[in-house]
Amino acid sequence: TQAPVNVTVTGAAGQIGYALLFRIASGQLLGQNTPVRLRLLEIPQAVKAAEGTALELEDGAFPLLAGTDIFDDAKQAFEGTNVALLVGARPRSKGMERGDLLEANGGIFKPQGEAINAGAAEDVKVLVVGNPANTNALIAQSHAPDVPADRFTAMTRLDHNRALAQLSKKLGAPVSEIKKLAIWGNHSATQYPSIFHAEVAGKNAAEAVNDQAWIADEFIPTVAKRGAAIIEARGASSAASAASAAIDHVHTWVNGTADGDWTSAGVVSDGSYGVPEGLISSFPVTAKNGKYEIVQGLEIDDFSRQRIDASVQELAEERDAVKKLGLV
Ligand code: NAI
Repeated sequence: TQAPVNVTVTGAAGQIGYALLFRIASGQLLGQNTPVRLRLLEIPQAVKAAEGTALELEDGAFPLLAGTDIFDDAKQAFEGTNVALLVGARPRSKGMERGDLLEANGGIFKPQGEAINAGAAEDVKVLVVGNPANTNALIAQSHAPDVPADRFTAMTRLDHNRALAQLSKKLGAPVSEIKKLAIWGNHSATQYPSIFHAEVAGKNAAEAVNDQAWIADEFIPTVAKRGAAIIEARGASSAASAASAAIDHVHTWVNGTADGDWTSAGVVSDGSYGVPEGLISSFPVTAKNGKYEIVQGLEIDDFSRQRIDASVQELAEERDAVKKLGLV
């Protein structure tokens, strides 16, 4: 039988962690033939809560779960890790400036990047979920010089899934018939969900919608502001859907995208589509042989160009801010 794959989850005692861990343990992250060993990282005050979750994981009697270890030290938590899910982050508190937020998260993602560099397995794959996800991923990546940069990714799959769901409702078509949607830019309110290359049952999605006002004034803001709408309705931020998207992101990374389709992920830019090299931006991506690759050669119309540029501009500003703080 196969040796267990080490999966490190940070912020394991948080809301997303609670939804995520059970799905990993049940085999949905890597597939039904792959045993996993969980390595949970928490801050000292939350270790006890993580231990409680570990008791419940034990009680799940998951055939694929080889064990759960809990750490409050990043170096130990990332030792030998194959898949690292960086969920724990510092949320914005009332009155907090963006610079303070970036600095507080730098204090988390810099040492985690260093720990991944020092001890992760050769094949490590990193997904950053904790916000601001793209820039946190950039900070971690820049402190892991020995790890190929393309192993660091940021999650925009939740945005992608939200976009799929909205388009599905609009057209009355099942999500399984929708291909080639794309989220561009930052995982923030400036993100650009695009349906101009998307296909629904083989037909161009924008033509099928045939309603530019809906795209500009309903679809894009609904997807971009969905996080706020969930908080408003639920009284808590999206956790189960975020966990589900994290499962999707890694599952696709490992198992690949279907022929004739792609997905969205925050990946290190190679300069494609005018996105400055090195920024971690969302793109349409395919996955093959354990690698995400940016889809090349798409035509970008003016409507899309403006929106991609605005979101990428925000990413560049975040990068400049963390550069000033000495974090990248
Ligand atoms: P939460 O507040 O319930 O849990 C966060 C956990 O992280 C807490 O248990 C905390 O103790 C832990 N933590 C803090 N600093 C840590 C450190 N240095 N090392 C290890 N653990 C640490 O938050 P929730 O709801 O689970 O969300 C987690 C993050 O995911 C947030 O930053 C949120 O904004 C982000 N998020 C991102 C989404 C995306 O699409 N990229 C979607 C939804 C949430």
